[in-house]
Amino acid sequence: MAHSLAGKVAVITGGASGIGHATAVLMGKLGARVVVADITPTSGEAVAAEINAAGGDAFFMSTDVSRSASIDELFDAVIARWGQVDCAFNNAGVAGEGKFTIDANEDDWDRTHNINLKGVWLCMRREIREMVKTGGGAIVNTASVAGLVGWRGAAAYSASKHGVIGLTKTAALEYARQDVRVNAVCPGVIDTPMGAPATQSAGTVHDLMLAKHPAGRFGTPNEVANAVVWLCSQDSSFTTGHALTVDGGYVTR
Ligand SMILES: NC(=O)c1ccc[n+]([C@@H]2O[C@H](COP(=O)([O-])OP(=O)(O)OC[C@H]3O[C@@H](n4cnc5c(N)ncnc54)[C@H](O)[C@@H]3O)[C@@H](O)[C@H]2O)c1
Repeated sequence: MAHSLAGKVAVITGGASGIGHATAVLMGKLGARVVVADITPTSGEAVAAEINAAGGDAFFMSTDVSRSASIDELFDAVIARWGQVDCAFNNAGVAGEGKFTIDANEDDWDRTHNINLKGVWLCMRREIREMVKTGGGAIVNTASVAGLVGWRGAAAYSASKHGVIGLTKTAALEYARQDVRVNAVCPGVIDTPMGAPATQSAGTVHDLMLAKHPAGRFGTPNEVANAVVWLCSQDSSFTTGHALTVDGGYVTR
C-alpha cells in the first residue's frame, strides 16, 4: 500500500535532480504540497512544473543550502504560503573533488562540508523550530554508505556524510519528545548525475564500484525515494535516529 502524505507540506533540497527530483515527484503523487529547493533554477522550476502538471501542488525556491540567509528566505516563503512544514528531505549535496586524505584541497573541503553538512544543519534548525510549533514532523537527511564506512579517495565527502549521521542521531534524541523524528538514508551508488561517473561509464571505475554492490547493479533514484517517503510517513511513526541503507547490500558485504 502506498504511504499517504495527503495535505502534508514537504520541503526537498536538491530537488532539481536525481534522488531529490524522484522524491519530489513521488511525494507530489502521494498528496504532499511540495517545495522544490535547489541552487539550479532551470531544472528546479521544471520539477515543480512536472508535479503541478500531474495534478499536484508545488513551487520552486532558488536556494543555496550553505547560506543561512538563503535558508531563512526558503522557510519564510514556505511559512508565508502554507504555514507549516511537516516533512523535510535535506538532500542537496556535492561529491567534492574526490581526493585522498593528504591531497584534499582546503577550499574543496570547506565547500563540501558547507553544502553537505552545514547545509543540513541550517535546514534542520528552521525545520525543527517550525515542526515543534505545529506538533511534530519528520526529517530525512541524505547521508551515504560513505557516511557509514570509509571511502578511499573521498576524504571530505565521507567525513561530511559521517557528520550527517551524527547530526541525525543527536537531533533525534533531542526532539523525540516533541514528535519530531529525524532519520537518514544511506544510498549506495545511484544512477543520477552525481553517480554517473560510476553508473554511466564503461571501464575500471564502473566495474570496481559495481563489484561492491552484492545486488549486482546500481540503485535507482526511485528506490531511494521510496525509503524517504516511508520515513516521512506515519507508517514509520516509531522510527527515529536511524540511518537506513538503500545500497543493494554494499555495507553488509
Ligand atoms: N548518486 C549517488 O550515487 C549517491 C550516493 C549516496 C549519496 N548520495 C547523495 O544523495 C544526494 C543527492 O545526490 P544525487 O545523486 O541526486 O545528485 P545530483 O547531482 O543529481 O543532485 C544534487 C542536487 O543538489 C543540488 N545542489 C548542489 N549544491 C547545492 C546547494 N549549495 N544548495 C542547494 N542545492 C544544491 C544540485 O543543484 C542538484 O540538483 C546528495 O546528498 C548525495 O551526496 C548520492
